[in-house]
Amino acid sequence: MSVNTARTEPPTQHAGLRAWVEQIASLCKPDQVYWCDGSQREYDEMCELLVKGGTFIRLNPAKRPNCFLARSHPSDVARVEERTFICSASKDDAGPTNNWAPPAEMRATLKGLFDGCMRGRTMYVIPFSMGPIGSPIAKIGVEITDSPYVVVNMAIMTRSGAKVLEALGSDGAFIPCVHSVGAPLAPGQQDVSWPCEGDVARKYIVHFPETHQIWSYGSGYGGNALLGKKCLALRIASVMARDEGWLAEHMLIMGVQAPSGEKTYLGAAFPSACGKTNLAMLVPPKGFEGWKVLTVGDDIAWIKKAPDGRLRAINPESGFFGVAPGTNMSSNPNAMASVKANTIFTNVALTDDGDVWWEGMDGDPPAHVIDWKGEDWNPGCGRPAAHPNARFTAPARQCPSIDPEWENPQGVPISAFVFGGRRSKDLPLVFQAFNWAHGVYLAATMGSEATAAAIGQAAMRRDPMAMLPFCGYNMADYFTHWLNIGRRVANPPRIFRVNWFRKDDNGKFLWPGFGENMRVLKWIVDRVQGRGFAVESPYGWMPRHDDIEWKGLDFKNDTFYELMSVSRSAGNHEAQQHEELFDRFFDRLPKEFVFERELLRSRLWRSPERWELAHE
Ligand code: GTP
Ligand code: SPV
Ligand code: MN
Repeated sequence: MSVNTARTEPPTQHAGLRAWVEQIASLCKPDQVYWCDGSQREYDEMCELLVKGGTFIRLNPAKRPNCFLARSHPSDVARVEERTFICSASKDDAGPTNNWAPPAEMRATLKGLFDGCMRGRTMYVIPFSMGPIGSPIAKIGVEITDSPYVVVNMAIMTRSGAKVLEALGSDGAFIPCVHSVGAPLAPGQQDVSWPCEGDVARKYIVHFPETHQIWSYGSGYGGNALLGKKCLALRIASVMARDEGWLAEHMLIMGVQAPSGEKTYLGAAFPSACGKTNLAMLVPPKGFEGWKVLTVGDDIAWIKKAPDGRLRAINPESGFFGVAPGTNMSSNPNAMASVKANTIFTNVALTDDGDVWWEGMDGDPPAHVIDWKGEDWNPGCGRPAAHPNARFTAPARQCPSIDPEWENPQGVPISAFVFGGRRSKDLPLVFQAFNWAHGVYLAATMGSEATAAAIGQAAMRRDPMAMLPFCGYNMADYFTHWLNIGRRVANPPRIFRVNWFRKDDNGKFLWPGFGENMRVLKWIVDRVQGRGFAVESPYGWMPRHDDIEWKGLDFKNDTFYELMSVSRSAGNHEAQQHEELFDRFFDRLPKEFVFERELLRSRLWRSPERWELAHE
């Protein structure tokens, strides 16, 4: 592959950056070094290069203008949590929920792996900003990669190129991120369409939290390779946030605008593939005329105390890397509009007319497509056409519900935090924490069932704050940090738990979800604004049937009570699992959590075996 050779000279006077790039080049031994300028022309050239090399298929311009399809290697389809490492000096600082290795040992391993790993390839240098350039909350990173697929994805997901180098100046701070697909080419060796390291045991996603460094080897997919996202904006940023007194969270950011014009911003944390993108882009249902949901972000929030004492949040990203399967005109019309053009699709199916398709798209399945592995597919063949973790990479500005404030460098004011896992049993639709400490407890003890976003997940696991795979330090210290934030801000956001996924005995969802989640959001907004009514349940404050706006939806009292019921034995089982989670942290666990667990136990003890709203 050849690139525009005009960009092989460093376009910066930043001595530290130049020296680092030289050092990495002499380690990785690429054929050439290319500095990305972030221009449209460069993006177009790079896509052309990817088409020529067989990584990209250009989609039918009449159907999906300027869109491309990539098919990954079948072994490289999601994050690899068991190959993700937090290499702090002390094992205790990584904590019991992270993989750890001694930093010196890991550095030696990486040196061996990266030595010559870019032979036969171009090494790209991508300066990028997480957050609007110049925002007091934003941070600059530089990713070095040998994957042009990463270059074009980073061009959508971050602000990148010449304008970032300008902001960096000659001595600005940046977070160095090194990535290689781990597939050097011998002289004359033909490249493959998705180069990567085939042996999972040789993949490494490594973070050095004390020195803020990221090294990723062997995978070209998503969060493994787009290092601005989970590696920088969550794992390293969570460490910076602990040290600097702010929060880096796996949260969407949305604004709920009432017909009166009143705007309430929420941050909501759900584990991977549990509905952040859907909620962030929600279209209010029938009965909510005049209401509006405005999207600020769908995956990551950086939240800082503003001079007025309130928490304000920015979306550090500039694009969506969203789950494709299940996205359709009724589940998420704003996402469908966002991917109409200028979008990269990965591991979806290709239709005979050069468009994309995935399970759960509108209409009948096509009679024939080429599936995500490049094979013929028809509706009866018994295999999915798209990989369950197939994704689209789309510019955020293309989203019809994008908030006019989404690039405000000061961020938007956050009034509530919402936490939700995927729980088919036991957990009610919505409840509110009694206070900040109880809310942090509710967030920390969240459980969720497995999804396709990571390889090899347990069926059900505790996923505190939806950050289990993303916290760059000891999670017990992270809980303490959360407790401290609430003490430091003037009027801490109210905290809620939700569960869209509760099922009846026949395995059917009890709650219609998607747009109808607006009804829950309205109650949350009412509570935040001091209007909404609630009763006390063993888990927290709950709305009665009457406290929810039902206009436009016929939802039976009885189903609602079932959806909201609390079983004492299930609650006790929950409390016991909380204890099992906490035991892993030993003495680092905040004392408040032990009190909260005992309070939960005593509330359950006082309640009937089946607690129901109807009997309140
Ligand atoms: P990451 O990008 O992996 O961090 O995840 P995300 O939280 O943005 O995931 P996304 O919004 O793409 O979640 C998609 C999955 O959640 C699909 O399986 C949807 O069907 C499901 N989902 C989203 N909202 C709802 C809902 O209200 N009800 C139900 N039952 N499923 C939902
Ligand atoms: C997630 O898994 O939470 C994602 C996708 O948002 S990835 O960027 O691959 O981590
Ligand atoms: Mn995510």
